[in-house]
Formats: sequence, structure tokens, C-alpha cells
Amino acid sequence: MKILLAGGAGFIGSHTCIELTKAGYDVVIADNFSNSKPEVLNRINQLTGKEIPFYQIDVADKAALDGLFTQENIDAVIHFAGYKAVGESVEKPLMYYKNNMDSTFSLIEVMEKHGVSNLVFSSSATVYGIPKTVPLIEGMDTGCTNPYGWTKLMNEQILTDCAKANSSLSIVLLRYFNPIGAHPSGRIGEDPNGIPNNLLPYITQVAAGKLKKLGVFGNDYDTPDGTGVRDYIHVVDLAKGHVAAIDYADKHKGTEIFNLGTGVGYSVLDIVNAFEKSNNIKIPYEIKPRRSGDIATCYADPAKAFNVLGWKAEKNLDDMCKDAWNWQSNNLKGYDV
Ligand code: UD1
Repeated sequence: MKILLAGGAGFIGSHTCIELTKAGYDVVIADNFSNSKPEVLNRINQLTGKEIPFYQIDVADKAALDGLFTQENIDAVIHFAGYKAVGESVEKPLMYYKNNMDSTFSLIEVMEKHGVSNLVFSSSATVYGIPKTVPLIEGMDTGCTNPYGWTKLMNEQILTDCAKANSSLSIVLLRYFNPIGAHPSGRIGEDPNGIPNNLLPYITQVAAGKLKKLGVFGNDYDTPDGTGVRDYIHVVDLAKGHVAAIDYADKHKGTEIFNLGTGVGYSVLDIVNAFEKSNNIKIPYEIKPRRSGDIATCYADPAKAFNVLGWKAEKNLDDMCKDAWNWQSNNLKGYDV
């Protein structure tokens, strides 16, 4: 079975490529390197011992995508392609709506033309908006606070409607919580452009001496230590969730939504302490004002993914902190060699 990873050169796509290959799937990657680097492909080929077919295309380019589907006998698609910086999406909403929606339109249209029915979509816990209660369950209310989040929710709606109209389609919507860590080999990991927005890459860059100190965005939230609580999940566990989702899509029709999280919430200071303990490195930090749009607490109820997909996260916070640092310390410039 051959799986197309649209946007497959990124952080989650690259790890998913490894896990799918390990599980015996053939994989094809399409990416325009808008937020990734060509070197990741060499690393993936080394880790899998295979030459993974790669197409440098923008998946929103329907003609180019059609060419790929004509060349390769694709059985299913995982759609990772999209911009993902919340702050940037507030400044450049049209760029976000255009890019993140066009890629989906193009994929669905070309899939239908070539008779491909199975799609797994990268959604986000951000679609729960400001949670009224936690843990978050798939059936709870949705709503977003920024254009990035809306593109995720709109994509979920569009794909759900497509599956209603075309009963041969099988759509799996995966709502990721906070993916961190890296492949234990230290060969692939997260390589953000510029100064990281997300917590773990910021911490690893402080540990590497590239950034002076971490700013902790608020210590007056209604949480045990006042800092924001999130459900951090090891990217390899998350990648395995995609393998389970592809298996599921192959056997079921219609749309299904799954949270991919651990079910455990950790605060920013928990993460700082865990990173220091796991790696024996001090992380200097200072308390800063709250970041606009942040919420106090967000963690998953991952029971549905376990009951239906047979998937659950297996790695712990120590694994996440060690693997994140193993990647960063062995690749001080990320994929720039
Ligand atoms: C962010 C996005 C979310 C996206 C997810 C994955 C926002 C508001 N949300 O989630 O939509 O799906 O990334 O990419 O950006 N923190 C600090 N200092 C930092 C960075 C973060 O204290 O330098 C804190 C945050 O306030 C938060 C926690 O660390 O409490 C996690 O932040 P982050 O890694 O950016 O993830 P989210 O905000 O949960």
C-alpha cells in the first residue's frame, strides 16, 4: 500500500514517514520546503534504508499534484501541508486561508479524479478554542481564536461534508495536542525557521546557548503553579497514531475524529524542570506577560483513539526531553549542514 505524505518533509511528516516504512508501507513525499529543508530527505533515507520518492511541489498546484498521482499508484494520503504559526496567521490571514484551504481543495479533487478514497488530516487541539472543561473529548464544542485555528476547523468541516456527499470517502481527522521530542537516533527533529514560537524548541535553543533565556508567558493562570498546562506528546508516538489512522481508514468509510494526546497535562515550569533533570542542563528563565491568545489548560481525553484505533502514547516526559536535546545538541544548526 502506497501512502502520499503531503507536506511530508516537516517535523511530524518526517517522523510519520519512518513509522509507516517500519510498518511495511510504501511512502511518497510531496513538499515545497516552505517550512522544511531538503537535508531531511537524506536523513529519512538513511534511517529507512530506502530511497523514498520525493516530489518538490506545492500540493495546492493541482496540475503538479495530478502529475504525481499519474506517476505513482497512491492508495491513501496524509495531509500535513499547511502554515502553522498562530501569530503570523493573525497578521497575514489571507495567506493562511489561501494556503491551508487551497492545499485541501487540490488534494481532494485530485484524489477523486484518481479514485483515491482515504485521507488522514493533520488537525489540532486548537479547534477546541477556549475549553470550558478538560480533558477534551472529540464531541465537545469547537471554536477558534485565530486564523490558523480556523483553517484547521474549516478543513475539518469541508472534509466531513465531502465524505457525506461521497460515500466511498474515508476521512480521519487527527487533533494533535503538543508534539515535542525527536526520533531517538537524533537524525531527524524539529527545525523551526528563525526564533521558535513553541516551548520545546525554545528551551533546546536556550540549552544550546543560541538563545539567552526562556520567557515564561504568564504565571498567573488558574493552574497549580500559575503557568500554562498542555498535553505534550512524543512525536514518535504521534507518528504511530498516523499508522493506526491509515489502517483504520482502509477498513471504514465516512469521517472519524481522534484526539492524539497522552491525557496528562504539564505546566511550563514542569517542562523546564523535567528538561533540566533529564539532561542535566540549567534553563534560565524569566516570567513574562501572558501571550495573547493563550489558554490556561489544555489536555486530551485520548480514550477514543485507544478504544477505536488501539493506539496510545507510550513515551514519557523524560523520553521527550532527552530526545529533543539529543536532536538539538547533535544538530546545532538543525538541517543546515
Ligand atoms: C501552539 C499554538 C497551537 C498549535 C501548537 C502546535 C498558540 C496560541 N497555539 O500551541 O495552535 O497547534 O502550537 O504548533 O500559539 N510558552 C512559554 N514560552 C515560550 C513558548 C511557549 O511560556 O517561549 C508557553 C505557552 O504560553 C504555553 C506553552 O508554553 O503555555 C506551550 O506553548 P506552545 O509550545 O507555543 O504551544 P501552544 O501554545 O499550546
